[in-house]
Amino acid sequence: MLKKIILNLLLKSMKSLISFFLILLRNLHKHWILEIKYPKLYPHGLIKSLVPETILRNSCGLFIEKDVSIKNSNIHIGKHTYIGNHTLIDSCNYIGAFCSISSDVKIGMRNHPLNFISTSPVFYSRYRRWCKKSQYDESDIKTVRIDDDVLISANVIIINGVKIGRGAVIGAGAVVTGDIPPYAIAVGVPAKIIRYRFSDEQIHRIEKSKWWEKDDKLLKENREYALHPDLFIEKISS
Ligand SMILES: CC(C)(COP(=O)(O)OP(=O)(O)OC[C@H]1O[C@@H](n2cnc3c(N)ncnc32)[C@H](O)[C@@H]1OP(=O)(O)O)[C@@H](O)C(=O)NCCC(=O)NCCS
Repeated sequence: MLKKIILNLLLKSMKSLISFFLILLRNLHKHWILEIKYPKLYPHGLIKSLVPETILRNSCGLFIEKDVSIKNSNIHIGKHTYIGNHTLIDSCNYIGAFCSISSDVKIGMRNHPLNFISTSPVFYSRYRRWCKKSQYDESDIKTVRIDDDVLISANVIIINGVKIGRGAVIGAGAVVTGDIPPYAIAVGVPAKIIRYRFSDEQIHRIEKSKWWEKDDKLLKENREYALHPDLFIEKISS
């Protein structure tokens, strides 16, 4: 009897020891990927979260802070885009270049069907094991699109299917429920436009220049004119 108890105890402590080492190994591996592998693979940016490799391969100068979760590996993220701590990007397939997405932002949160007896996925999703086949078609879920040079401030929530136009600004804490036109500044719940960043004429010139597609070298050489958009456009277009 005593022998059996001792054996059981030994077995339990062995199991705890093994799981301790497995956790340690997993953390070391994560640390290795984040601190050693990513920065070496990716010298023109800074990556502090585990994100799909496809994003890293196809873009340059990305800054991705800690605890960022990007669920869609087919997403395109343009060059020099920044994503802050704890941001969650779910149903979104395009984020342009030169975007600044702040911390604690939530993008493309999926809806649950509202006409079932319950909104709980156990009644419609096969991943929750009650249903053998999904009862709700998630394949046609609309995704979010964020164009180039968009600023999304801290704690913003962007509902599924919304399009945010180039150069738009979303104020802190906003809930974006509809499309936001290019260069608009929108704030509040639900987000409403308070003004535009530039005049119609300037917007026309900026759009015509397509500065975000220009070579980094040219943009860097002319960075001293960035505070004067008209002059900047003139310089990079000449
Ligand atoms: C949206 C924002 C850029 C607007 O700046 P701005 O154009 O200088 O705006 P103003 O301060 O002139 O405010 C204009 C009006 O909008 C309101 N407003 C500004 N920001 C707001 C916000 N986030 N939510 C609700 N209302 C807001 C102001 O109260 C003001 O209202 P009033 O005219 O009734 O007084 C700024 O307020 C903001 O939200 N910044 C976020 C900063 C942030 O999170 N940065 C992270 C970067 S990584």
